[in-house]
Amino acid sequence: FFDRIEAAPADPILGLGEAFKAETRTGKVNLGIGVYKNAAGNTPIVKAVKEAEKRLLASETTKNYLTIDGVAEYNAQTQILLFGADHEIIANGRAKTAQSLGGTGALRIALEFAKRQTGAQTVWISNPTWPNHNAICKAVGLTDKPYRYYNPQTHGLDWDGLIEDLAQAQKGDIVLLHGCCHNPTGIDPTPAQWETLAKMSAEKGWLPLFDFAYQGFAKGLEEDAAGLRLFLQYNRELLIASSYSKNFGMYNERVGAFTLVADNAEAAERAHSQVKGIIRTIYSNPASHGAATIALVLKDEALKAQWIAELDEMRGRIKAMRQKFVALLQANGATQNFDFIIEQNGMFSFSGLSPDQVDRLKDEFAIYAVRSGRINVAGITDDNIDYLCESIVKVL
Ligand code: LMR
Repeated sequence: FFDRIEAAPADPILGLGEAFKAETRTGKVNLGIGVYKNAAGNTPIVKAVKEAEKRLLASETTKNYLTIDGVAEYNAQTQILLFGADHEIIANGRAKTAQSLGGTGALRIALEFAKRQTGAQTVWISNPTWPNHNAICKAVGLTDKPYRYYNPQTHGLDWDGLIEDLAQAQKGDIVLLHGCCHNPTGIDPTPAQWETLAKMSAEKGWLPLFDFAYQGFAKGLEEDAAGLRLFLQYNRELLIASSYSKNFGMYNERVGAFTLVADNAEAAERAHSQVKGIIRTIYSNPASHGAATIALVLKDEALKAQWIAELDEMRGRIKAMRQKFVALLQANGATQNFDFIIEQNGMFSFSGLSPDQVDRLKDEFAIYAVRSGRINVAGITDDNIDYLCESIVKVL
């Protein structure tokens, strides 16, 4: 059976991690996969998480199955983070959330649901985007169409191109938006631009799908939900894929959530029953540990405050590294202006490095980045930044 199977290409992001592991040169630097590292270059467990885990282990009495949609408190807390505790959507029961296996799991559920239940056939995806967006569309049998997003000349948003392309989106099409910290560019729409998009969506009858994997990494938890909340002012129906991998640092616990917002509670219930049907045939019901831990943090005022402080620290360190990175590139003789890197949000910087330059960084200097030129700023530390900047200037 297996003789004629062709080998699949390595994943453009996770494949880098495997190659980095196998790298034997000393001083190697990994700026590939989007994982936070502290000043010492480690990805530590968030202290609020560690404390919640202790409490959880001490209080847990059973390993019985969860329901198909997972830990109820986790789902409720997810809605509070997305909408704000006092939002009408929560009071009116217009949203239903299902715990998922990370953000990828949430996206897969979202697209399966949209395809089967809304008849959607097309998903509009920013160009560039996180490559798994396109891959999940294909896996589900949906057609992905690109909309322009990035202007390489200005290193900013290609707003005119974006509007021109999305003007072609038809009623019922899914439009995928990055809630904040656009991956890979780090460029987000302004509030005014969000509002224009939100109105356009309502007028044209799109089904918006928010990929919300970096809440808290741009400006703060509340501020980063501004685009989503503007959309909710104009759109009664919407899908959200959340991930807590980054903001809780719980990458390997696969903590995500799929939330649908419907026009009313009754429609939300019916739609959610179909979501549960989808989950049942993929993994039946989710694992408890990560979600139960997050629920514990979020419902305990002191632990939540501690988590937010730790998240603020992560965001602050990345911002400081952006400044230092740009200053050191210049100090090392770069003639280009890299100031745009300071303005970008989240973990990533779309550096403007070409695939050839990225390949040279790997081959000649054991520095790993994504071939699109995306670098993980959270992987830069005081220990590797000098070597990194010297090497980049050599390949420029
Ligand atoms: C990334 O973009 O590096 C992260 O979202 C990790 C992943 O799964 O690709």
